[in-house]
Amino acid sequence: MSPLEGMLDPGRAVLFGYARTALEYGFRHLGLGEGDEVLYPDLICDVMMVPCRRLGLKVKFYRVGPDLGADLESVEGLITARTKAVLAVNYFGLPQDLKELKEICKRSGLYLVEDSSHSFLGKADGTAPGLRGDIGLLSFRKLVPVLNGAALLVNTGAQGAKGLESLRRVSAGLPAERAQGRHASYLKLVEAKYGLPLGRLRKRVAAVPPHGSTEGEAMDFGFDEWSLSVLSGYPFEREMARRRANYRKWVERLSAKGFRKVRELPEGAVPSSCPMYVDERDRWFSSYLSKGHRVSVWPTLPLEVWKAGGSAVSIWKRLVLFPV
Ligand SMILES: Cc1ncc(COP(=O)(O)O)c(C=O)c1O
Repeated sequence: MSPLEGMLDPGRAVLFGYARTALEYGFRHLGLGEGDEVLYPDLICDVMMVPCRRLGLKVKFYRVGPDLGADLESVEGLITARTKAVLAVNYFGLPQDLKELKEICKRSGLYLVEDSSHSFLGKADGTAPGLRGDIGLLSFRKLVPVLNGAALLVNTGAQGAKGLESLRRVSAGLPAERAQGRHASYLKLVEAKYGLPLGRLRKRVAAVPPHGSTEGEAMDFGFDEWSLSVLSGYPFEREMARRRANYRKWVERLSAKGFRKVRELPEGAVPSSCPMYVDERDRWFSSYLSKGHRVSVWPTLPLEVWKAGGSAVSIWKRLVLFPV
């Protein structure tokens, strides 16, 4: 069975073009609204502010440690009577340990969102990514170069079958992203979007966007039909083995040069990239880029996190992502 079939189980999955839109409707489904508080890790992409801005939710940021695990004391210290949900990220496809976070959520009556946007493949605690929280997020385009594609997984019956039906109506009513395209072909559109050398080799431009730059970037599109058909025939088994092998190779090769790994690759995990810490990140980043490796830095932090200058900023300044 293709891993996609399980993930797109019609009993729980609702399709969207982007995970940020999936999250907005996930929050709505859980009944979150104006004035409610949600807890995000401080190492988070600024686009994740979009759903909160739109719904009037207040975001508070908890710390993550150097292994990118949630700092539980920091989480507990932020909970108030207005807190409704905690979001945990499986960074780069490395699953979070959610046991204690789940306990905290249970004790405090909070929803848990498992954000597995970085990787929809592999296993976390023996189950598919995105199934361990009340709701889960997947973003297919981060592993496979398709135009768009994301899913909201509704894992608890919080709002019942009626709620799922109304989510499906929203999803079906979203416009197609391709309709906005100025490009002649699907391949050109994907190439332009990701800077991929699909047609011919192109130099990748080293551009690190400023923090906060995509905080308003709403992408209210439906799951692109062609992207879905690309995914349906995708050789996932090969993809999973390749990514795991490349992760280990990078760790071995880069450790010898003084880079430090974030974590050992957990059993069953399928990474989206290999994150490594290094001092003088920018020098290494440019050096690998100029040798033709598609390295990147992540994330474009929310402006508020960047300005506060806490541990997420120091993690960000040392992290380089190597392609797997
Ligand atoms: C952890 C995480 N979750 C969600 C998103 C948003 O995904 P999408 O671009 O599909 O909206 C991102 C964006 O890069 C991300 O890094």
